Amino acid sequence: MRLAGVDLALRRLKSDTEQQRVQFQEGFGDFVAGHELAGWEGWFSPYDEGTYSTALSHVAPDDVVLEIGAGDLRLALRIAERARRVYALEVNPLVVGPALQIIGLRLPRNLHVVCANALDFSIPPGITTAVLLMRHCQHFGVYFDRLQAAGCRQLLTNARWRSGVEAVNLLTPRLPFEQVHEGWYACRCGAVGYVGRGERPDAPPSEVRNCPACQNGKMR
Ligand SMILES: C[S@@+](CC[C@H](N)C(=O)[O-])C[C@H]1O[C@@H](n2cnc3c(N)ncnc32)[C@H](O)[C@@H]1O
Repeated sequence: MRLAGVDLALRRLKSDTEQQRVQFQEGFGDFVAGHELAGWEGWFSPYDEGTYSTALSHVAPDDVVLEIGAGDLRLALRIAERARRVYALEVNPLVVGPALQIIGLRLPRNLHVVCANALDFSIPPGITTAVLLMRHCQHFGVYFDRLQAAGCRQLLTNARWRSGVEAVNLLTPRLPFEQVHEGWYACRCGAVGYVGRGERPDAPPSEVRNCPACQNGKMR
């Protein structure tokens, strides 16, 4: 159910927050370095409607959702309309502060906004679904392992394939990489790739562990 005024807040978020281009403000480089965020990982940049609607289609009314890197809360507001509760975690106060100002008293009771680095944050009990829309994520493996340990069931993300949104079943058993001889694979560390001679390009990827990137310590 959409609360009164949420449409207006979403319109204002779309027109205002990205214009602020916080990644070009003085001090941003030191801020992200201090938070151990690398490359474009700390940049706020919203995604397109297709990305959001795919992620939303995997959220059920009983879900307790953790959104890692929630930006200006435009997706978190919409998740809150579908799910039991949402924790929206965003490291950058210059993104989340103005967003909260725009949302104001329309902030729904089931949306809990936290301004903190996900690397420092203890996952609350009972999270069933996590959302990680962050194509430049450098810490995928860390989030994956923590979510799995916390009992989270699915991860909705564009971080591994860097396009589209996949719903990763965190409960599914993962094959040792050596057992994949032909086909695509996607690893818990965030790496993806193809093994073999290209004979199964359309087969779904195998969920693996211990891929070459893990072995080289290149965990994202
Ligand atoms: C590409 S933006 C996407 C924002 C939002 N998910 C969306 O789709 O509209 C990624 C956001 O993640 C935030 N972020 C990156 N690493 C983070 C971390 N470790 N903890 C919390 N937020 C983080 C960035 O500050 C940025 O706002």
